[in-house]
Amino acid sequence: MNIDKAAILWNQPLSSSCYRIGITTSAQYAYSTPGQFVMLRLPNQTDPLLRRPFSIHRLIESENGVFQGIEILVKVVGRITYSLSLRQPGDTVDILGPLGHGFSVPPDCTRIFMAAGGIGVAPMLFLATSLFKKQIDLSSSIIFIGGRSRSDILCEADFTALNLPVTITTDDGSLGDQCLITHPMELCARERLPDIILACGPSGMLACVAGIAESLNIPCQISMETVMACGMGACLGCAVKSKRPDARRLHACLDGPVMDSRQFDFLH
Ligand SMILES: Cc1cc2nc3c(=O)[nH]c(=O)nc-3n(C[C@H](O)[C@H](O)[C@H](O)COP(=O)(O)OP(=O)(O)OC[C@H]3O[C@@H](n4cnc5c(N)ncnc54)[C@H](O)[C@@H]3O)c2cc1C
Ligand code: FES
Repeated sequence: MNIDKAAILWNQPLSSSCYRIGITTSAQYAYSTPGQFVMLRLPNQTDPLLRRPFSIHRLIESENGVFQGIEILVKVVGRITYSLSLRQPGDTVDILGPLGHGFSVPPDCTRIFMAAGGIGVAPMLFLATSLFKKQIDLSSSIIFIGGRSRSDILCEADFTALNLPVTITTDDGSLGDQCLITHPMELCARERLPDIILACGPSGMLACVAGIAESLNIPCQISMETVMACGMGACLGCAVKSKRPDARRLHACLDGPVMDSRQFDFLH
């Protein structure tokens, strides 16, 4: 783990509130796993003082495969994300990472279901790209992307380019079927069981995905997007209740953010 001052390479709007930001990083980030995250703040930032967590969205490589940095996908919801949306190439950010545990897909999985709610799509593109690079045929797998409205549905073309089928739903029916993303996911899972389900999104969606996986006895990993203050196990602000026999609280930043869904107690 490093704290770096890193330069912004590009800042590309994807929708009215979402931005893809390329950042130069140390070569250590080349070994990041999908689901890992970084803690970012702006140089000399004192208000708010704390860094904010962002998933690694993509690794950036030059045309001849030399690692250059990472890309993050930022949705503007408050002060830091708004400030990030205004950054220009050449501006700098303070970056701490790579942090946490990512997704771990056993090599024998051929039918992989991924579920992304809203900005939860950010780590899923890194995940799908890394499976594609391992020459895993994704044509029997599916990514389910859900959002409130069509502007929340991001990266569809990127997944299609990896030969990964995409199913979309929106709450208002402006793109895809008008229902929750867990609805088509459950139908497809019952039609032909996936080997594993991997999900990132709001906690209600994750609870539903975990319930479907449990009822079908399918392994499931979820990425918890809890509020984090330090990202390193120091503040205990990201504690979540677990179903472990010792009832130990899990810390999303250290034990996660990606966890086996059966470890996590959604009811508390
Ligand atoms: C492991 C992890 C990975 C994340 N990855 C991404 C990512 O790739 N892209 C991205 O845009 N965001 C991601 N987030 C959420 C992101 O960290 C928050 O949106 C960000 O901290 C908001 O900072 P702010 O200063 O702009 O807003 P603030 O002023 O801090 O908050 C504005 C509003 O957003 C809410 N909020 C803050 N943090 C979260 C959160 N974690 N989940 C839901 N609501 C929150 C606050 O309650 C408040 O209502 C991730 C969070 C975690 C824990
Ligand atoms: S964010 Fe501080 S302990 Fe997890």
